[in-house]
Amino acid sequence: MTTPVSEFTRRNFLKTTSAAFVLAGAFPLAVSAQQSGATNPLKIPAQDAGRDEGGVRVYDLTMQKGVTTFFEGYKTATLGLNGDYLGPTLRMRDGETVRINVTNTIGETSTLHWHGMHLPAKMDGGPHQTIPNGTTWSPEFTVKQKAAALWYHSHQMEKTAEHVWRGLAGMVWVDDAESDAIELPKTYGTDDLPLVLQDRRFDSNGGMEYNAGMRDMMMGMVGNVALTNGTVDPYFEATTEKVRLRILNGSNASFYYLGLDNDQPFTQVASDGGFLETPVEMTRLLLGPAERAEIVVDLTPGQVVSLRNISNASGFRFLEIRAAETLTPSPAIPARLTSIEWLDPKDAAVTRRFDMETRMGGMMGGNSHTINGKVMDIKRIDETVKKGDTEIWEIRNVAGMPHVWHMHDVQFQILDRNGKPPAANERARKDAVTLRGGEVVRLIMRFEDYADPDSPFMFHCHILEHEDAGMMGQFVVV
Ligand code: C2O
Ligand code: CU
Ligand code: CU
Repeated sequence: MTTPVSEFTRRNFLKTTSAAFVLAGAFPLAVSAQQSGATNPLKIPAQDAGRDEGGVRVYDLTMQKGVTTFFEGYKTATLGLNGDYLGPTLRMRDGETVRINVTNTIGETSTLHWHGMHLPAKMDGGPHQTIPNGTTWSPEFTVKQKAAALWYHSHQMEKTAEHVWRGLAGMVWVDDAESDAIELPKTYGTDDLPLVLQDRRFDSNGGMEYNAGMRDMMMGMVGNVALTNGTVDPYFEATTEKVRLRILNGSNASFYYLGLDNDQPFTQVASDGGFLETPVEMTRLLLGPAERAEIVVDLTPGQVVSLRNISNASGFRFLEIRAAETLTPSPAIPARLTSIEWLDPKDAAVTRRFDMETRMGGMMGGNSHTINGKVMDIKRIDETVKKGDTEIWEIRNVAGMPHVWHMHDVQFQILDRNGKPPAANERARKDAVTLRGGEVVRLIMRFEDYADPDSPFMFHCHILEHEDAGMMGQFVVV
């Protein structure tokens, strides 16, 4: 068995990032709940496949204020899309034209970004595509995407962290001919589950206010309660031999080091941008904020097994899976899942370098999170890329703390990490990559389609407090 993130031994990982995992002042209800069996049935977001309007697949999403009962007897103010907290899983297909009517009723300006999607910058939902309260924004684009589990979230300038924290996020699942044909579990909510993993900080009244202090702005806002699809301490009753978990790290700032509590192996079949070429068996999976992984878990009849974050001392549980006494057979995982067109560094027109930097101790109010020494300026274009070009982007985390590099528009490939080939589960289409302190990754990507000198795409750290503090830049494709 391979250990794809072998560098991330528990000890080493804790050494560099422990601060991001400390669950301070845990909400008492959550702690006691985790001592025994899980307490709440896992919530499964509704699926929304839109409706056909003259050949266009049309969706309606309303950003709204909500009240959520995370803990029995406590009402928590939240935000959601077509609901109280989080939003539906949008289902769409490669090649079709979609339109999403996004209506904002939250009482302040927001945006909705399609994370991981390849689309025109004007449709991207970044900080330039603001949706004032009481208005509707209706991006329309053709899906040009391999089958993948993507997501959407607010991207409002300097407010992304707060809006996502309060609940403005959901998943987008893209299908194509390949995913239709592949022998993997694919019955939504039965053997194919969206798992939006988050942590949120609750106060003793059940409140989940976004009140980031100085330390939170530096390290990122970390919670004291784990949520899975907005469920506290959930269980899922499995009826099949295999379950496919489409996991999104939807946290603001936490790195989850996931494993099953009995250390049984699981199989990763997809990364951010779709299937891996071949399945990768593993026992531990590191996911930084915004990263996704699809894993398949094998169950035996009557088994109870839990998915946990094992990177902090309490090892909080994200999901308890309870297998039925009789399980419906699931086919074996195919040995080959897809083919990826690997980009050749020899074809790269340009190499660009980006330093992600954090200056600790910036107590005097100076900005501490930068890319190439700069903080985001929405009027400044940082990079200009030529349409059709293949490029190499070399990202260095020159800080001591981990950061997550994310860029819009493309799915990239990791050429190397610290000069060595990427781990088997990172040989994939990706749009976000975790860099521990001191790490360097070289990414390669091709900028197909959608030249627009007036509308930039973003690149940024996906620790949302860092993004909001200005660890973000803009590129245009011309
Ligand atoms: Cu997930 Cu710029 O965003
Ligand atoms: Cu994005
Ligand atoms: Cu960061």
